[in-house]
Amino acid sequence: MRVAVVGATGAVGRRMVRILEERSFPVEELVLLASERSAGTRLRFRGEEHEVGVLSLEALRGVDVALSSCGSSVARTWIPQAAAAGTTCIDNSSAFRMEPDAALTIPEVNPESLEGRPRIVCVPNCTIITALLAVAPLHRAAGLRSLILSSYQSVSGAGQRGIVELAEQIEKLHGMEEELGSPDPSSLPVGEVFGKTIAYNVVAKIDRFDEQTGFTFEEIKMQREARKILSLPDLEIATTAVRVPVPVGHAVSIHATFDRPITVAEAREVLASAPGVQLRDDPARGVYPSPLEAAGIDDALVGRIRQVPGRDDALLLFSCADNLRKGAALNAVQIAEHLFA
Ligand SMILES: NC(=O)c1ccc[n+]([C@@H]2O[C@H](COP(=O)([O-])OP(=O)(O)OC[C@H]3O[C@@H](n4cnc5c(N)ncnc54)[C@H](OP(=O)(O)O)[C@@H]3O)[C@@H](O)[C@H]2O)c1
Repeated sequence: MRVAVVGATGAVGRRMVRILEERSFPVEELVLLASERSAGTRLRFRGEEHEVGVLSLEALRGVDVALSSCGSSVARTWIPQAAAAGTTCIDNSSAFRMEPDAALTIPEVNPESLEGRPRIVCVPNCTIITALLAVAPLHRAAGLRSLILSSYQSVSGAGQRGIVELAEQIEKLHGMEEELGSPDPSSLPVGEVFGKTIAYNVVAKIDRFDEQTGFTFEEIKMQREARKILSLPDLEIATTAVRVPVPVGHAVSIHATFDRPITVAEAREVLASAPGVQLRDDPARGVYPSPLEAAGIDDALVGRIRQVPGRDDALLLFSCADNLRKGAALNAVQIAEHLFA
């Protein structure tokens, strides 16, 4: 197969190339594309150097599957034409996720969305993937009624620039732990990516604010995408998205209510055999998930399962997953595997 990785030089794209190799995806020819800025960069795949070219429709001609992670505005400029020309486009951006004809797929959760081999398949928002890997198996068991999600999202969710901004600020503030107890706001480093200081801080804003509702668009995406993926158009869902100074790995605190009573023991049993999930829930032994433990692995780690006080039909959970792997690159490659198996 002729496989293209568009946005190959980015945080997700580099993982995509690595995962194609790790999973022995049947690549006969690999086409690596990015913008003019990084054209000529060389990336290793199966022991050989491959040169990154400039994205164009010409460069995509004859490509069977394009794995895309180049941002929404760029995705809009080429995906419709490439799909019309016969390329299956699997896109990590939010550009087409809510389009009725585009599939929005987590293979462990809604593989049926790939029936009929849609030409445009979207990878959902990385935080909703982290949450739904835990919630969907419980929904199948007990019927989901409502969700409240609060996320703790790593800086790599904002791409390579986010990782660099955190690293630079940590270096600038190193040795200033005492002063940070009562900081002079004008001396705090503020970068272009996060808008407020991200080192030693948390920032309750990801993407822009919607003036009407006060939610950020990241929070709105989580709501819309959960309803589409679970085929629950009326799902009651509220979300809060927060950026934390973690390099890789998103975490989500989940409050879920169900159509019938469900115990912690039943939830553990369901999640112990759920695909894409590793149960990490043994509080007595200090076993519970954290983003650093989820970074670099394929599964979501789920634990801290508790009954909501006074409710036999409601649970609290904590889920962590690698936003660059399962939240983006791995999910895209798994979709390609389903479509071309
Ligand atoms: N990071 C995550 O956790 C995550 C998770 C889920 C989804 N996503 C989505 O995945 C996409 C990429 O994210 P990322 O974190 O990998 O960002 P990133 O590190 O900033 O990488 C962006 C990539 O897009 C390429 N690009 C930018 N403008 C381009 C253009 N005009 N033509 C061709 N290529 C262009 C860049 O190439 P240059 O090197 O040439 O600039 C780079 O390879 C975004 O849509 C993001 O929302 C990210």
